Amino acid sequence: MKIRCLFFFLLVSMTLSAQDYLSALLPMPNRVEPGSGEDFIVTPKTVVTVDSDSLAFAASELRRILQERTGLSVTGTAGEGSVISLQVDPAMEGKEHYILSVERDRVVIKGATPGAVYWGIMTLDQLLLGDVCRSAGARIAPVYIDDAPRFAYRALMLDPARHFLPVKDVKFFIDQMVRYKYNVLQLHLTDDQGWRVEIRKYPALTAVGANRNPQGGNEGPDNGFYTQEELKELVRYAAERNVEIVPELDIPGHTVAVLAAFPELGCPHTESVQKVMGETVNLMLCAGNDKVYKLYEDIIQEVAAIFPSKRIHLGGDEAIIEENWMRCERCRALMKEKGYAKVSELMGYFFGRILPYVRDNGKEAILWCELDNIRMPVSGYLFPYPQDVTLVTWRYGLTPFCMDLTLQHGHQLIMAPGEYAYLDYPQWPGDLPEFNNWGMPVTSLETCYRFDPGYGRPATEQNHILGIMGTLWGEAIKDINRVTYMTYPRALALAEAGWTRMEFRKWDSFRERLYPNLMNLMRHGVSVRAPFEIGR
Ligand code: ACM
Ligand code: ZN
Repeated sequence: MKIRCLFFFLLVSMTLSAQDYLSALLPMPNRVEPGSGEDFIVTPKTVVTVDSDSLAFAASELRRILQERTGLSVTGTAGEGSVISLQVDPAMEGKEHYILSVERDRVVIKGATPGAVYWGIMTLDQLLLGDVCRSAGARIAPVYIDDAPRFAYRALMLDPARHFLPVKDVKFFIDQMVRYKYNVLQLHLTDDQGWRVEIRKYPALTAVGANRNPQGGNEGPDNGFYTQEELKELVRYAAERNVEIVPELDIPGHTVAVLAAFPELGCPHTESVQKVMGETVNLMLCAGNDKVYKLYEDIIQEVAAIFPSKRIHLGGDEAIIEENWMRCERCRALMKEKGYAKVSELMGYFFGRILPYVRDNGKEAILWCELDNIRMPVSGYLFPYPQDVTLVTWRYGLTPFCMDLTLQHGHQLIMAPGEYAYLDYPQWPGDLPEFNNWGMPVTSLETCYRFDPGYGRPATEQNHILGIMGTLWGEAIKDINRVTYMTYPRALALAEAGWTRMEFRKWDSFRERLYPNLMNLMRHGVSVRAPFEIGR
């Protein structure tokens, strides 16, 4: 045993009871068969082969990982040395299904798509991470992994609207999330505190709406926006890594930044407070103003052209309709004209005019699920929603109702329940208050891990669940170090909830697999929270 290896072994064995090549797999693959026989040995003459040009990026990532883990740059050509073969096999079922097999003289990673092969490479990286002794000797133990996700949609959400995050920070965030096979990044691009996407037809949106702090500079945290070219580059960067970016434009509430640029778009009685930026002040777009719809028709057209994702999230949450629409002469006249008894029906009218713009651009809308409830008398969009809208469940305690209603009405559902998936909540009592949006409720790592996205329901009642999303609201999250601190390690728990079937998920196993992953994140300069409580 080399000295370096011995050192690693001692270091890691202090925290791990059984350090081996399976001990850093996270999310746990859905089928792992340890092999027997001799190890595969990486040498400088090892050949990385691809059977499709579409795997060029995956191959370069694999070489980077081998260099990082074994210290070797592999530059072999065919016939020279051991082979790592990357293959696209369209006959394989499932877009993200991959098979990773390691034998004495051959490693094969194959999948139906380049994205699936990329996931196989991320798993290989974790085999090497777990087995530091073997990887220090450039060896990989035989194994057969046949893996595919439980859910197709595994998202994290960032909120650069509240505090702007420069492109390089978003790329850094993507670099970390792909280790854990997240495949969607939702960008909450607009809110009261900021408008962060360049809209060429309406430069005022960013000229006014992106500057929360008139004295501040352009790189955040209060000011800044993404140009369309920057966003296209971000989309390309993400897509290479099998991540889709879903843009969110929050309407009709959470729109103070829009109203700062275009005060005439609010309900007239609220005009005197419309210029307040930097705070949520319960203002909304006026449902009875045709200019609102024209503005968003144009905005949606531009945003649809930037992001190839078939989905656009349009918010729909926390609309304070009593204070805005209910007191607005124009909105009330509209209600009367339409024969609406309840002001919440105007939400149906509002989205009834907006959603065709989404469809006309070949996209589908996502909305935050609001529901009227005795515990939470919400006045926002209420069921029934238009059939083609995908909903996200989020309000603390209301997910069972949202599951029932989406099932009944035939909506697709994304699971982001407040009690498990809200990463802006503190991770432990007293957790750095300046990093937390709210002092409560505590969402510990273990609580996150207890999340079953199916809520234990029969399989027939889970078919409409697309997947999961961890949301990191940014009111108090001023920079990327706070972003990752609040995200990790909890996003590791959520990643496993999204990927691994319940029968292969065990808290005790997760706890052990966590340690090498936390060390690895720290080695890559990621600020994480040390979950000291799980060792006590
Ligand atoms: C939300 O947390 N307002 C969706
Ligand atoms: Zn109005």
